[in-house]
Amino acid sequence: MLTSRSVGFVGLISLVVPIGNAQPVQLTPQQDRERMMGLLHIAAPLRNGADGRNTQAPNYANYDESKANPYPTLPDPLVLKNGQRVTRADTWWNRRRPEIMEDFDREIYGRLPQDIPGVTWELIGVTGEKNGDVPVITKQLVGHVDNSSYPLINVEILLTLTTPGAADRPVPVIMEFGFTGFRPPGARPPGAPPAPTGPTWQQQVLAKGWGYAILSPGSIQADNGAGLTQGIIGLVNKGQPRKVDDWGALRAWAWGASRALDYFETDKSVDAKRVGVEGHSRYGKATIVAMAYDPRFAIAFVSSSGEGGAKLHRRNWGELVENVAGNSEYHWMAGNFIKYAGPLNWNDMPVDSHELVALCAPRPVFISAGATNGDGWVDAKGMFLAASGAGPVYKLLGKKDMGTTEFPPIETGLMDGDISFRQHGAGHTPGPNWPTFLKFAERYFSNNRSLTVAVPYASEPRP
Ligand code: GCU
Repeated sequence: MLTSRSVGFVGLISLVVPIGNAQPVQLTPQQDRERMMGLLHIAAPLRNGADGRNTQAPNYANYDESKANPYPTLPDPLVLKNGQRVTRADTWWNRRRPEIMEDFDREIYGRLPQDIPGVTWELIGVTGEKNGDVPVITKQLVGHVDNSSYPLINVEILLTLTTPGAADRPVPVIMEFGFTGFRPPGARPPGAPPAPTGPTWQQQVLAKGWGYAILSPGSIQADNGAGLTQGIIGLVNKGQPRKVDDWGALRAWAWGASRALDYFETDKSVDAKRVGVEGHSRYGKATIVAMAYDPRFAIAFVSSSGEGGAKLHRRNWGELVENVAGNSEYHWMAGNFIKYAGPLNWNDMPVDSHELVALCAPRPVFISAGATNGDGWVDAKGMFLAASGAGPVYKLLGKKDMGTTEFPPIETGLMDGDISFRQHGAGHTPGPNWPTFLKFAERYFSNNRSLTVAVPYASEPRP
């Protein structure tokens, strides 16, 4: 409930300014990041990121493997903070996993607030059409976020769900974090390589008899620092800027994906125990965050997620912590994250991304990248090392790791375990790895194996 206070009288007219109803604060990304540096007592400028373009620049990105591992010793996912080794699954679930989550919450991605308002899904349109040869039904959905606590910010989550028209039972669904949500069919995001020939990913999904969904991240949270006092983050904070451990855009997007999954649980056309999540680049980062934090997601296709995603923060290759801590990307993360671009260093992080992959265990995860020539920025090997470093946790939970710690040749998938990896031969795109992912997913979706993960803890507050 809003409270009000009278701030003055003009004749008989009382000017009432409701507390909590001040206009949202407006800052540029630079101002907001500087404000955050102030909260963190960082006086000196942060270190610059790598330059990904100018080969002559002194800080040109490193692509030399002999210089890539300045900090080869990773935090051990199976050692408790008190030094004790984790040898039993229940110790992982009850003690070690919560320790790792707390570190990711506080230092890397930010905490999910306790009091996030509820979402009411509305079906605003249904169309029957054909995608390729397949008759489909597409639902346009809007998730209205209850903004009664701060009516100046309105958050409406946009989602489409497409299922085969001929399905006579609930179908598995692959949900993508769409680059623009309701992009016209065939339109390509800026900077994407030319569209591949052959069936689109949606048509490949339909060919398995499954459905697909597209979530609009921008309808949940803007992709810039100026938007942090708007969107779901701004709504919860009533238009005020973030605290040092508040959630960033990646967690906000992942939260939105979980709300879409809430909707799927109510839609009879969806087998909500078999919902996979997929995203590319910044949305590859959102994908692994969604998978790590919400145990209801059955599988993930994490495409070219790079720094801030599956890449080890401790690697010196392509994009660095310092880049993600910069003005155009820091909003993805918790405020605390920027400390590691100065005064602290990557090796000071209490966790690294192999432990993010480990948070997904025992569920299947596919880590994907393109060729170094074209997708070097995302550090395929750094992501492979994270996938490999999560192996002991998968094994502890009775699952299979990748079966090797050797980086495989390009276009050679490591697909036999429950963590999988493949570097395709093209550039910065998920395209060529879709068939590989769908084959992997088929192993889990086409048999009667239960995908419900018994998780003896509450992963996140549900509205
Ligand atoms: C930039 C950024 C990456 C990000 C990518 C994208 O290249 O450095 O971290 O993944 O944009 O989302 O396209």
